[in-house]
Amino acid sequence: MAEPSDDLTINRAYWERMAPRYAVAAEREWASEPSWGIWNVPETELGLLPVDLAGLDTIELGCGTAYVSAWLARRGARPVGIDTSPAQLATARRMQQAHGLSFPLHLGTADATPFSDASFDFAISEYGAAIWCDPYRWIPEAARILRPGGRLVFLGNSTLLTLTIPAADDVPATQQLLRRQRGMHRFAWPDGSSVEFHISPGDWIRLLRKTGFEIEDLVEIYPPDHATTEHLLAELSWAQQWPCEEAWKVRKSR
Ligand SMILES: C[S@@+](CC[C@H](N)C(=O)[O-])C[C@H]1O[C@@H](n2cnc3c(N)ncnc32)[C@H](O)[C@@H]1O
Repeated sequence: MAEPSDDLTINRAYWERMAPRYAVAAEREWASEPSWGIWNVPETELGLLPVDLAGLDTIELGCGTAYVSAWLARRGARPVGIDTSPAQLATARRMQQAHGLSFPLHLGTADATPFSDASFDFAISEYGAAIWCDPYRWIPEAARILRPGGRLVFLGNSTLLTLTIPAADDVPATQQLLRRQRGMHRFAWPDGSSVEFHISPGDWIRLLRKTGFEIEDLVEIYPPDHATTEHLLAELSWAQQWPCEEAWKVRKSR
């Protein structure tokens, strides 16, 4: 088996440290109706999920505490989650017990999963593989494990946010371009705590098409009036003018 990459090791250690904080959020998210991103925009507004999930095999790539998979299970899907952090998965298992739901949770990396080709009808990542795995590795892996016609939805920081947010904790996005869009890909934040991946819209389109996906939508996410967030990535007034998050909806060609 291949050795874990340095990025994977760094990010796993980061998520082991972050897990207690996300365990608190998990209590709320497991008990709530589907809503997305740092502003909790309701699914009823964004429409990211397939209308009919009944009987679909789903995979959550970087599932964390797995509340998204819980939402899918309640809509009749057969979810599976994979995550690299044992502590996050421990929270997910505890929440499964608390909510009387049971579905498989795998410890592993979303860019090299143990699943057979064409195992799933729907794949999703909310700030999981979407920003923590190299897209040039995890998008081909998602394509491999999806069935023809299967859908992939992934949500993370917008390109604008990535270019305008200072490289310091809890300092929100500015109105200045702080780094280049050209060639954007791997972001190792200066404190060495974690490594994220963000590529430009043009690079996303080329990668998705090359790996056999048809692009259905790129949803730019704006918070409703008076929305609040515990993640200070952008002020509300900023996020109402420019999207600080975006979701891709794509479908594997038949
Ligand atoms: C912000 S959480 C997203 C999950 C969930 N939506 C949540 O907020 O709890 C990010 C998750 O990605 C996971 N992750 C990071 N790198 C990963 C990788 N290479 N493979 C699978 N999961 C990964 C982390 O362990 C963490 O649980």
